[in-house]
Amino acid sequence: PAAAPGQEGGYDFVVVSNRLPVERTVEAGEASWRRSPGGLVAALSPVMARNAGAWVGWHGAPDEVLERFDHDVFHLAPVPLSEQEVADYYEGFSNATLWPLYHDVIAPPEFHRTWWNSYRTVNRRFAERTAEVAAQGATVWVQDYQLQLVPRLLRELRPDLTIGFFNHIPFPPLEIFGQLPWRRAVLEGLAGADLIGFQRPGDAQNFQRCVRRFLDVPFKQGQARFRDGADEWTVHARSYPISIDSGAIEELASRPEVRRRAEEIRHELGDPETVFLGVDRLDYTKGILHRIKAYGELLEDGSLTVGPSVLVQVANPSRERVESYVHLREQVEGLVGHINGQFDTISHTAVRYLHHGYPFEEMVALYLATDVMLVTSLRDGMNLVAKEYVAARADGSGVLVLSEFTGAAEQLKQALLVNPHDIDGLKATMVRAKEMPPAEAKKRMRAMRRHVMGHDVTGWSEAFLRDLARARAEARPAAGQ
Ligand code: G6P
Repeated sequence: PAAAPGQEGGYDFVVVSNRLPVERTVEAGEASWRRSPGGLVAALSPVMARNAGAWVGWHGAPDEVLERFDHDVFHLAPVPLSEQEVADYYEGFSNATLWPLYHDVIAPPEFHRTWWNSYRTVNRRFAERTAEVAAQGATVWVQDYQLQLVPRLLRELRPDLTIGFFNHIPFPPLEIFGQLPWRRAVLEGLAGADLIGFQRPGDAQNFQRCVRRFLDVPFKQGQARFRDGADEWTVHARSYPISIDSGAIEELASRPEVRRRAEEIRHELGDPETVFLGVDRLDYTKGILHRIKAYGELLEDGSLTVGPSVLVQVANPSRERVESYVHLREQVEGLVGHINGQFDTISHTAVRYLHHGYPFEEMVALYLATDVMLVTSLRDGMNLVAKEYVAARADGSGVLVLSEFTGAAEQLKQALLVNPHDIDGLKATMVRAKEMPPAEAKKRMRAMRRHVMGHDVTGWSEAFLRDLARARAEARPAAGQ
């Protein structure tokens, strides 16, 4: 049985995210769990281990109810979702309403009341689950756009908790956010947190403008006062640009077997002079079509030649039942087929397109095998692939072409910044990247490495949690910590 609110056996630090930090595996017929890859899980694991931590999230299978269990350093509290809720809350409201709305309406967001109702129901379930596992006075950190109502619902259930929220994706300008029929409810949901973190200062400003306009609550120096009956609290909003486990990636990239694999990859690609690489979830925010179109035109112009140059595009399958993603896949695969049909030779391909995920070691080997990394997102909260590429390039070689519409562009200023909508500009930058003198490439890469190696995901989580603790101490000096 779950510990009642505030009772012994509760957890002092609770992370809440749509997905649990573990994935199911089957080895030798035995089903088990393994830790998910990715920076967030890596960064929070030590905090979990130190603080008696629990993680609340969905385990990924519809219509399955699981008991709480321990795995690795985590206590895991699975939240069940029905098949219908996966369709309405996850694929619908989260990924066909909020995701496109928050990414500059690149795809048209759909507004359906049934999806909204499901989002509310599921957010309430997450809040209730969290209230069950959190100890008296615990710190709770809610992650991302799927759970924006959780902070307020949780505050109502458990006013003793300290609540943080981090938005991993962009927060849209007022003029776009205003389209959302449930804009007030979403802002009120978020404003249940003591501290709301965003990727860029611009995202935090967009949020503050929205709160001022739609809730009529002013922010001053990133702080606003909220009231609900007798409860009164301060909401802080500011930016904390997320990063990666830089040291772990650098270490992986230094391993002899990974370096050997990188050489092997180049050889298998036919020993080209220039390897261009794109690595993305297959998502319309990533500008994959723009990148491949530019590459095809460079072949057409004769600026690049198949054989001496190759574009490797890894497209991780993602949200495959959502219509815009189905459509995007058709477009990407149509374009790749068109270009390859026209330019491939018997021995060499123009675009090596790979629609699958790979183990992280293989990705690092690919980064090492690459001369020009292409990150051409049309809008991206941060883009960790850009930072991973930089962390892997310990010898200072390699060129990063980076969209100015990523959060990462605010930190990796020495990348070759591009507007991916400007196809001619993108083409010119790709050629410039290919032809960049090694000394200039090194200078740029070293500057970017200083940033990435000095700002890792642990620093990110520590900065957020430090400010959250401070916000709480100011708000409740009498609580005696
Ligand atoms: C983005 C979001 C995450 C999400 C991830 C994968 O990075 O910010 O919240 O988990 O995409 O998407 P998925 O829908 O598979 O969880």
